[in-house]
Formats: sequence, C-alpha cells, structure tokens
Amino acid sequence: MAKLREASFCALACVLVLFLSFVSADTYNRQDKQVYVVYMGSLPSQPDYKPTSDHISILQQVTGESYKKSFNGFSARLTESERKRVAEMEGVVSVFPSKKYKLHTTASWDFMGLKEGKNTKRNLAVESDTIVGVFDTGISPESESFSGKGFGPPPKKWKGVCKGGKNFTCNNKLIGARDYTNEGTRDIEGHGTHTASTAAGNVVENTSFYGIGNGTARGGVPDSRIAAYKVCSGAGCSSEYILSAFDDAIADGVDVISASLGGDTAYMYEKDPIAIGAFHAMAKGILTVQSAGNNGPNPTVSVAPWILTVAASTTNRRIVTKVVLGNGKTLVGQSVNAFDLKGKHYAIGSQVPVAFIFRDKKEFASVQPWPVSSLSLDDFGSLISYINSTKSPKATILKSEAIFNQADPKVAGFSSRGPNTIAVDILKPDITAPGVEILAAYSPLVSPSATTLDNRRVNYTITSGTSMACPHVSGVAAYIKTFHPEWSPSMIQSAIMTTGKQKSYTSVTFL
Ligand SMILES: *[C@@H]1O[C@H](CO)[C@@H](O)[C@H](O)[C@H]1NC(C)=O
Ligand SMILES: *[C@@H]1O[C@H](CO)[C@@H](O)[C@H](O)[C@H]1NC(C)=O
Ligand SMILES: *[C@@H]1O[C@H](CO)[C@@H](O)[C@H](O)[C@H]1NC(C)=O
Ligand SMILES: *[C@@H]1O[C@H](CO)[C@@H](O)[C@H](O)[C@H]1NC(C)=O
Ligand SMILES: *[C@@H]1O[C@H](CO)[C@@H](O)[C@H](O)[C@H]1NC(C)=O
Repeated sequence: MAKLREASFCALACVLVLFLSFVSADTYNRQDKQVYVVYMGSLPSQPDYKPTSDHISILQQVTGESYKKSFNGFSARLTESERKRVAEMEGVVSVFPSKKYKLHTTASWDFMGLKEGKNTKRNLAVESDTIVGVFDTGISPESESFSGKGFGPPPKKWKGVCKGGKNFTCNNKLIGARDYTNEGTRDIEGHGTHTASTAAGNVVENTSFYGIGNGTARGGVPDSRIAAYKVCSGAGCSSEYILSAFDDAIADGVDVISASLGGDTAYMYEKDPIAIGAFHAMAKGILTVQSAGNNGPNPTVSVAPWILTVAASTTNRRIVTKVVLGNGKTLVGQSVNAFDLKGKHYAIGSQVPVAFIFRDKKEFASVQPWPVSSLSLDDFGSLISYINSTKSPKATILKSEAIFNQADPKVAGFSSRGPNTIAVDILKPDITAPGVEILAAYSPLVSPSATTLDNRRVNYTITSGTSMACPHVSGVAAYIKTFHPEWSPSMIQSAIMTTGKQKSYTSVTFL
C-alpha cells in the first residue's frame, strides 16, 4: 500500500516536473522576444517614401503598430540579437522596450479665476473650432459633459474618425474616438472621463457626488470639441499605443494634447514615447500637457522641455467628514463619505456595516466603499480618551461636506517634483494646478471607489492626482489658443508660466 502510494506520488510528481519544464521553456521563449519600439525620427520628405515598406524591409514583417502619418517608426516583437541589428540600421534613431505607463473638476475653475458666465471673456466662435485630444482610458460617450446638444458639425480642419468600437457613438461635442487597447473606447476605469470633462467638458448644472461638492461642472473650454484616444486599459498604457495615438492625433488635427499618464521613471527623450510624440506634435504647433506623476517626494517622470508638465495642488475647497462622539464632541476627519448614518450613534467596536474610523489622515479625501473618516493623530487621541472615559463609547460618522476656507493653494505631497533627472538645468514641473478633491464626470461602469465591494454607480465623482491637475492646464492652453490661434506651443507654455501667480518658495505654487 505504502509502495503504491509512493509510486502514485512519484507519477504525479514526475508529471508535474515534466509539465513545469514545458511551462518554463515556454516562458523562456516568450521572454526571449519582447515588444520594442523602433523610432525613426521625422518622416522623410521625399514624396515617394513609403514608411510601411521601409519598416518591412528592416524587419521582413512588422507585427505591431506602424507610425507613418506624423513621424516614422514601428513596434515589433524582437529578440535581443534582432534588437541590436535593428538599432544599428541607418535611419533608426532609437530602439527601446515597450513599457507600461501609469495613469497618474467645478470649484477649481472659479478658484483659478476662470469664472463662469459673463465675467470671463471667451472667444466662442474660435473655441468651438478648438479640439482637445485626450490620451487616457477612453470616455463615457453618454455623459452630459460630452453631450452634443447645441453644437454644430465638427470644425472643417478635423480629419479624425469615430472608431470607438461596438456600441460607441460620437456626437458634435465628442467628435473623435480611437482605441488602441482592443477594449473599445468606452471608459471602464472612469479616469479618462474625469480628465476629458475637466479639460473641455460641457457646462452641466447641479452635479455632485451624492450632494457632496455640488455645483456646476465644466471644463476650461466648454464649447470646444473632444477627441478621445484610448491608450490605457486597467493594465496600464503601453508605449507603442501612446506613440500610435500621437501619430494619429497630430494628423487628425487636434489643438492640444492632454496626457495624464507617465512612466515609472524619467527616460531619455529618444526612449520616451511621450517625449517623442510631443516633440512631433510641437513641430506641428500642438502643445502636449502631461501630469508630473504621483510619486512625491520623488522626481517627476515628465522631463522634456517641449512638454508642459503639471504638478497638483489644493484649492480653497476641502471635503471633510465629521465624527460625532457620544459625549457630543465633534472631530473633523477626512474622506468622501456619501453614506448617511442619519445621526444614529453606534457602539464603538460593534460591527456597523462597516463603518470605520482610521488614524491616518492623508492629504486628500477619497471615496471609500464604507462610511469612513480618517482622523489626525491628535483627534484620534481624543477618540481614545473618550473611549477610555466611558463604559459604552458611541459615535457616528456624518455625511461629508465641502468647506471653503483654505485661501492658499499648496502643492500636494503626492505630486512628483524636481529635479529633472535627465536635463538638470531644465526646471520641472513647469506649473501647478488644482489636483486635490476634484469633482468631474465619471464612468457609470465602475464604482466610484474603484473596488468591487462598492456597487454604487455615479456620473460624477471626486478624485485627486496630478492626473486631475493636467487637464486644468490643457483647458487653459486651449483657452489661450482661442485668443491667439497663431501662437506656438512654446508661446502658450511661456504665457501660462509667466503669468501665473508665484507663491512662496516652499510651496512653489503659480496658479
Ligand atoms: C447618468 O447619466 C445618464 C446619461 O446621461 C443618465 O441617463 C442617468 O440618469 C444619470 N444618472 C444619474 C444618477 O444622474
Ligand atoms: C451599450 O451601452 C449602453 C450604455 O452604457 C449599455 O446600457 C448597453 O448595455 C450597451 N450595449 C451593449 C450591447 O454593450
Ligand atoms: C440637484 O440634484 C439633486 C440630487 O442630485 C436633486 O435632488 C435636486 O432636485 C437637483 N436640483 C435641481 C435644481 O435640479
Ligand atoms: C449645494 O447645496 C447646498 C444645499 O442644497 C446649497 O445650500 C448650496 O448653495 C449648493 N452649492 C452650490 C455651489 O450650488
Ligand atoms: C486609557 O486608560 C488606561 C487605564 O486607565 C490608561 O493607562 C491609558 O493611559 C488611557 N489612555 C488614554 C489615551 O487616555
């Protein structure tokens, strides 16, 4: 019996070993070839030049993206020896491995001085001919922020398409959609909907997150058009998709590119798809605005001088969540809490469908799937003394409220900062803009806390990041362009940087 068991164990183990050796051989082969971007600079000016046949002559077969409208290059799966061979070929500027870039609204416009209504000068005719290209997770085409109501046909210069995939329709506001991820351009993350509406969303009255942060949502240039380029999925944003989006967007005729995403680290310009794409965009008069990244205090990943790099700061509005103790004392904590416990006090330590009080006050309030408030160390101490002082400690968490009392913007701690690790004499980030607790449009296909524990679905939500700051500056850049259509990207960048309000050295805040 023991022998039999040994034998069967051996059989099982041997099969397992055999199986594992197959698996590892397969993994090895796959690792052996990896996706590289082969960047070949500008398109040659000779009229008979055929990028695709040139790409094929380099590689026999190109299976990947081909860049042939706005600059020259392709992506392909290569072995290390192929990579070396290709890198030495004439005409090849750089060969670099594909990486996954990461994803890094409206009391904020009032705060920035771009007030709603007649107090803000706008050049509506030109604004309506302005197109903001958003590189992100796609977009929710049904959102009111992108409704085509009241818009005429797309501007004549528009050469793009609406290829959003099944069940995706554009309109005269959302005039273009391209998908590189094979998921379809519909936003199932929420991020792209949020950033697009901040940059150029319609004026939508009475928006809020369950009443929190209520007000009118709008982008910086509400009358301009939006083109969504889906380069990111939940898994990240691949280098070769980002370059494809630049290749297309430049040729499509966008005026400004907003990219709230970046690499894990700063790369040399010729190996960074955003630096490469933005360079060719700039040559065509298109400004690229990029988020600095959320790795503060570590340095920004956006370092090229021809990109407008945006840090994130607070506004005069903060979201707070009060905790009321059984003894009547109120502690002001933090979170975006839409759950209404109706003032009922619960025994502390009892299992209230998940109500939590945390001792980890952060720099910004975020949406959680439960009633939550995060207290400062001092307030948490008060809570503990109260618990100590009574046999049956009780508390309740109130619904969040917005408070307007912080006149001074401060750069958020999460916001990546200088120095520029690639070119130390070029200061980065260039500017800071609102990126903390921003209310903007969202995808109803994902929960506002981005967890599966949460079955709520909303059209507007509050979130934070340099991703939220970037489209504020894209909106400003587009706004400036409506008054100065002939200005170059550097002139627009310079105008924004030199007219911002400078604050103290330590808070490095301009807007
Ligand atoms: C969300 O937006 C959709 C499309 O505009 C609309 O049909 C729906 O009623 C909205 N939901 C809420 C809660 O406002
Ligand atoms: C199309 O999109 C709408 C709106 O999000 C959704 O309700 C519907 O189920 C979708 N249909 C298909 C076939 O995906
Ligand atoms: C504003 O929205 C809230 C809920 O989202 C609703 O209860 C209220 O009636 C709306 N007010 C107006 C003026 O539309
Ligand atoms: C938000 O809602 C509250 C309560 O209904 C109201 O008093 C306040 O004026 C609203 N704020 C804005 C900016 O609409
Ligand atoms: C709570 O009570 C215990 C025992 O009376 C005491 O040792 C402790 O310091 C108290 N803690 C606080 C935070 O008041």
